[in-house]
Amino acid sequence: MSEANDRHPMTGNRMSSEESGGTHRIEQHSYDVVVIGAGGAGLRAAIAAHDAGARTAIVCKSLLGKAHTVMAEGGIAASMGNVYPEDNWEVHFRDTMRGGKMLNNWRMAQLHAQEAPERVMELEDWGALFDRTPDGLISQRDFGGHRYARLAHVGDRTGLEMIRTLQQRAVQLGIDVFMECTVTELLKDGDKVSGAFAYWRETGRFVVFEAPSVILATGGIGKSFKVTSNSWEYTGDGHALAMRAGASLINMEFVQFHPTGMVWPPSVKGLLVTESVRGDGGVLKNSEGKRFMFDYIPDFFKAETADTIEEADRWYDDKKNNRRPPELLPRDEVARAINSEIKAGRGTPHGGIYLDIASRRTPEFIRRRLPSMYHQFKELADVDITKEPMEIGPTCHYVMGGVEVDADTELSAVEGLYAVGECSGGMHGSNRLGGNSLSDLLVFGRRAGESAAAYASGLGGSRPSVAADDVTAAEAAAVAPFEHEGGSENPYTIQQDLQQTMNDLVGIIRTGPELEESLVAIEALKERAKNLVVEGHRQYNPGWHLALDLRNMLIVSESIAKAALEREESRGGHTRDDFPGPDPVWGTKNLVVRLDAAATGVELAHQPLPVMPDELKTYFESK
Ligand code: FUM
Repeated sequence: MSEANDRHPMTGNRMSSEESGGTHRIEQHSYDVVVIGAGGAGLRAAIAAHDAGARTAIVCKSLLGKAHTVMAEGGIAASMGNVYPEDNWEVHFRDTMRGGKMLNNWRMAQLHAQEAPERVMELEDWGALFDRTPDGLISQRDFGGHRYARLAHVGDRTGLEMIRTLQQRAVQLGIDVFMECTVTELLKDGDKVSGAFAYWRETGRFVVFEAPSVILATGGIGKSFKVTSNSWEYTGDGHALAMRAGASLINMEFVQFHPTGMVWPPSVKGLLVTESVRGDGGVLKNSEGKRFMFDYIPDFFKAETADTIEEADRWYDDKKNNRRPPELLPRDEVARAINSEIKAGRGTPHGGIYLDIASRRTPEFIRRRLPSMYHQFKELADVDITKEPMEIGPTCHYVMGGVEVDADTELSAVEGLYAVGECSGGMHGSNRLGGNSLSDLLVFGRRAGESAAAYASGLGGSRPSVAADDVTAAEAAAVAPFEHEGGSENPYTIQQDLQQTMNDLVGIIRTGPELEESLVAIEALKERAKNLVVEGHRQYNPGWHLALDLRNMLIVSESIAKAALEREESRGGHTRDDFPGPDPVWGTKNLVVRLDAAATGVELAHQPLPVMPDELKTYFESK
């Protein structure tokens, strides 16, 4: 072994024989709880597990602090009632269920609405610096689909402040962090999770984590689409790891296209433009200068949506006695409307729509409330948003589907395996309201951490163990891309073709024939992936990293396309041109996907929605 390979990838110190070779070939660690992913959900889960007394580690494939959480810019939804005292958890619960078109797991939506305010206060106790109301309370801003202004925020950098706060706390508590370390397999002892197999991205060296509780907090799947607000990390790792371990995914057909991503210049296409621009008064206009959203108010939201410009504009001054502007409909409605305008030839020169706040708010207001947007457009597009409108278009932002979990504990179908945040499913039904992801990851992150710690401590001396054969198999699977003799496929080409397929055939508007075509294309990509070859060796090899990520992207993409083909209706983040509008029969059930028996593809099952208790049903009549 070379001297360089004798060095510990994190510390740079020379490794012991156990770590580097000797008795055990592979570096090994033992914990009670291992959290995979270090966004808001992973950090909050790790803090909770640590506080519950568990020996806890965070393993993340990127640098600590680099997470899609920072792309939830506008705020954390929580009914604190600081701006509207009449707000409360029941109204938040109702809004969330209506936003998800009633497919949400009602129990998750209830816990989320009830516990979010406490989680925000706790974040403040830990050092988060929220914007304030004139009375000195935490300020709350408007977002689509929320009856009251309820997003606690830090300018338009809320996710960043949340990550900063949680990261600082995790480090202060001394939680071990393994960063730039990718998990490729979960390890099991019979039906129970026993740990995870990973590699250091820098050196390519393997690591085994032995742990009876593993929490998946890996975020979303956006990198399967060409235009996305997600960065390179979001390849559906947690979704795929869970499936390969025997868990099920729910609601995978529902993908959220955020209405406002940048469209120009091409290098930043898809980058998020926060919903706060609309929450703070920005409006959408087509190339004819028309505020077109008035033409797209669905019956479901007619009663509470202004249908004239005058009423919509009055709402900013008097939110109690006027209906909300249609720009603040839930994201699925706004994204579809923008898409229709562009398709009808009323788009901007770069294929978007105009988002105008310059003509509606003063430059001082814009720079104070939306500092990141001001700099983003100035530096990346040479547009001064205090003087000119922005050009925007829909971008793949979030997947509502994820690992099916128990609402109270976040436990999956596999003993010892938990999932939280974007890689879990159920909470948001068919469409997530903006701001509900930051509160989701705080509420369920804490719950997952506590449950995972309690389970581990309850095992006493009967911890599941890691089998040497499983480690050998995981190792063989990881190096397989180097060993495809005569292989001719390049991982980058396969990824590009997958992204194009998902964008063109499984995007914002879908049809049966196109979805069928997408499944044929994904099958062909799976075949090509068997033949891909990676040059060089395991050190500093991004081609190899992508080859491993592709396995996850392909299985998750297949899950999305299969579920989208099966659901013959339009609802939330799933729009079928050939089945426009919701179908009441589909409103009673979810689709669940699992790996098939041969573990080469996915199979679907229909599952009735959990029954909502009568006392919660009343909120849809009276609030
Ligand atoms: O538009 C935004 O600031 C995004 C927020 C979210 O996805 O929750």
